[in-house]
Amino acid sequence: KDNQLLDNHGRPMTYLRLAVTDRCNLRCSYCMPAEGIVYMPERELLTWAEMSRVVRVMYGMGINKVRITGGEPFVRNGLMDFLTEISALEGLEICLTSNGVLIGAYIDQLKSLGIRSVNLSLDALDRDRFKQITRRDDYEIVFQNLLRLVAEGFEVKINAVVMKGQNEQDILALAALTKDLPVSVRYIEEMPFNGSGLVEGTLFWNHERILKELKTVYPSLKSILMQGGETANRYEIPGHLGDVGIIAAFSRTFCGTCNRVRLTAKGQVKTCLYDDGVFDLKAYLRKGISDEELREVLLGLYQKRPLDGFEAEKNRKGVINESMTTIGG
Ligand code: GTP
Ligand code: 5AD
Ligand code: SF4
Repeated sequence: KDNQLLDNHGRPMTYLRLAVTDRCNLRCSYCMPAEGIVYMPERELLTWAEMSRVVRVMYGMGINKVRITGGEPFVRNGLMDFLTEISALEGLEICLTSNGVLIGAYIDQLKSLGIRSVNLSLDALDRDRFKQITRRDDYEIVFQNLLRLVAEGFEVKINAVVMKGQNEQDILALAALTKDLPVSVRYIEEMPFNGSGLVEGTLFWNHERILKELKTVYPSLKSILMQGGETANRYEIPGHLGDVGIIAAFSRTFCGTCNRVRLTAKGQVKTCLYDDGVFDLKAYLRKGISDEELREVLLGLYQKRPLDGFEAEKNRKGVINESMTTIGG
C-alpha cells in the first residue's frame, strides 16, 4: 500500500491498540493500587468522535486491526455506538480486551457488528483467588460470560498474569480448562505497570518457568508456529480443544516484528508500551488539524521509533510508574 504507515525500521504498522477509557470496575493488583488511580476528567479523554476520526485516518494508512482496550471498555457510555461507527470501515478487524464483568449485556450486539474475538482477563479459576487479585467479588459473572462468549462462537483468549504466591495453582487449572473449552489461555509475565513500578518477585514466573510448569503435566506440548506481530508463543495440548500460550511481556522476546500503534485514553500516541515519549495527539486534534496534517504527524512519529521495548525503556526520562489502565496494555 502506498500510504502504509511504516516505522524507521521498515516495519508496517497494521494494528492499533485504542484505550477508550482509563476507568475500570476492577482493581487488579498488577494494574492499580487498591485505592485506584486518579481518573482523568472527561474533557481530558478523547471524545468518541475524535477516536473515530483517528481510526478512520489510520485505516487509510494501513491499519487493518484495532483492539479496543481500557481501563475497561464497557464502563464508558457510548461504546456500542462507537463500535457501530467504526465497523463500517470495510475489512477492519475489531477486537476487544475486557475484564468480562459487563460484557454479558452486549454479546448479541457485538456479534451483529461482526466482532468475533474477545480477550478476557481472568487470572484465577477460583472465587477467593479472583477476589484477592482483582479486589472485587465478580468471579461468577466473569466465568458465566466466558462460557456464553464461547457458546456464541467468539474466539476467546484468556489473559492470566502469573504472580508469585497469588495464582500459581491456576497455571495448571487454566490449562485443564482448555480440554473441553475451545479457548486460548495466555499466561503473561507481569510487567511493572501497576502504578508504582517493580514489585518483588516480578520476574519469578518468567516464560521459561511457566513453560516448565506446563510440561510437568503436559510433556507433549506442541509448539504452534508464531505469526509475525504475535506476542504469544502458543502450544497445542494433544487432545485439548483449546490451546495455551505464554506472553513474555517483560522479557520482550517478540518486539522484532512489532506492528502496534498505541493510543491512550488521554489521546497520547505511544510508539512502544515501554516508552514514556508519549506524543500528545489530542492537543493536535484540538488545534483543528486536517487529515493530511494528521497523517504527516503520524508518519513523523514513527520515524523515531525504538527498535524494541528495551530501547524504549532505556530512553525513558523517568522510571516506570504508570498504571496499565492508563495505557491500555
Ligand atoms: P492479540 O494478539 O491481538 O490477541 O492481542 P494481545 O494478546 O497482544 O492483546 P491483549 O490486550 O490481550 O494483551 C495481552 C497481554 O499482552 C497484555 O499483558 C498486554 O499488556 C501484552 N501486550 C500487548 N501488546 C504488547 C506489546 O507490544 N509489548 C508487550 N511487551 N506486551 C504487550
Ligand atoms: N503486567 C502484565 N499484564 C498486564 N495486564 C494488565 N496489567 C498488567 C501488568 N502489570 C494485562 C491484563 C489485561 C491486558 C490488557 O493487560 O491481563 O488483560
Ligand atoms: Fe481493570 Fe484491566 Fe487493570 Fe484489571 S487489568 S484493573 S481489569 S484495567
